[in-house]
Amino acid sequence: MSTQKRKTEHLDIACNQNVQFREKKTGFEKIGFKEIELEYKTLPEIDKKEIKLETKFLGKKFSAPLLVGAITGGCTEATQINKDIAGACEELGLGMCLGSMRAMLEKPELKETYFVRDVAPNIFLAGNIGAAQLPQYSIEKIEKALKEIKADALAIHLNAAQEALQKEGDTNFKGALKAIAKVSRELSKPVYVKEVGHGISGRIAKELAKTKIKAIDVAGAGGTSWTGIDSLRGNAELGETFWDYGIPTVQSIVECRKAFKGAIVASGGVRTGLDVAKAIALGADIAGIALPVLKAQQTGGKEGVKKYLEKVIEELRIAMFLSGAKNLKELKKIKIANRN
Ligand SMILES: Cc1cc2nc3c(=O)[nH]c(=O)nc-3n(C[C@H](O)[C@H](O)[C@H](O)COP(=O)(O)O)c2cc1C
Repeated sequence: MSTQKRKTEHLDIACNQNVQFREKKTGFEKIGFKEIELEYKTLPEIDKKEIKLETKFLGKKFSAPLLVGAITGGCTEATQINKDIAGACEELGLGMCLGSMRAMLEKPELKETYFVRDVAPNIFLAGNIGAAQLPQYSIEKIEKALKEIKADALAIHLNAAQEALQKEGDTNFKGALKAIAKVSRELSKPVYVKEVGHGISGRIAKELAKTKIKAIDVAGAGGTSWTGIDSLRGNAELGETFWDYGIPTVQSIVECRKAFKGAIVASGGVRTGLDVAKAIALGADIAGIALPVLKAQQTGGKEGVKKYLEKVIEELRIAMFLSGAKNLKELKKIKIANRN
């Protein structure tokens, strides 16, 4: 099956079927019987209007610590989806990661489906390639593709669980770490590594820390299930066994934070600004959201995306007010109450 056709199927399944984890949770609510809560200060001693959300990620300014996770590129539908998301991010001062550029690397004429700089000249924009495909491409080819879409960085996705459940999946990951190390060393743009919704362990983060990557996006378990989506395309029985596979987002944030000194992006089932606040208090630097942004785009276009992201930002501001944190530096020091 062509990469283009697969992209269309992914969008169709993600938008029209229930593709989230079933039993396993992110951990933002509970781990076992324990609640994760930010310490509530009913005497916050700050003015909510003065709370500052600005931050920097890989050298670029953000007005709030939020990135729209990789979603699409390479199919007809992608052009409008990417422009609506990018346009909303431009107006809000947020960042965006594009979907896998494999389709464009195979067929350069598909560049238009990724190009968003006409509507979003200033946002942080990352291009995206799978680790399993990475050894096939030269640094020059990747560099040229990033230049064409005017990206600021490259996100390399690790998706072994997804590939294993995909009927035409690429399950040869030999040499992937070496390829990541090479690209992170030789590319002129910063490189970061992300999962796609099944999490990154501390042990893997330790291996990644030996390369020159600048950030890890944990994309943990509890949000969109990619073993789920790809099994619905033809491996339904196997999919049942692996639907909830992976490391919950909260566990992944904590493990990666310990093992890796660079920036941590919290994603995978991040749905509210309260989740974002908890993720930052647990050690993340910014948060990423994918599926709800796609759904908001499908129902309301650019304005729909903007409305959803504005709600997340306001929730984050309220969560910070209630914990007495004036800025993100203070939020990182807020106590997490682990209640039984
Ligand atoms: C329709 C759709 C397509 C996606 N395509 C990609 C992709 O091409 N590359 C990638 O790295 N991640 C991809 N992802 C994964 C997301 O970037 C994200 O890591 C994952 O969905 C977990 O976040 P969520 O629970 O907020 O959706 C995709 C997600 C969705 C919903």
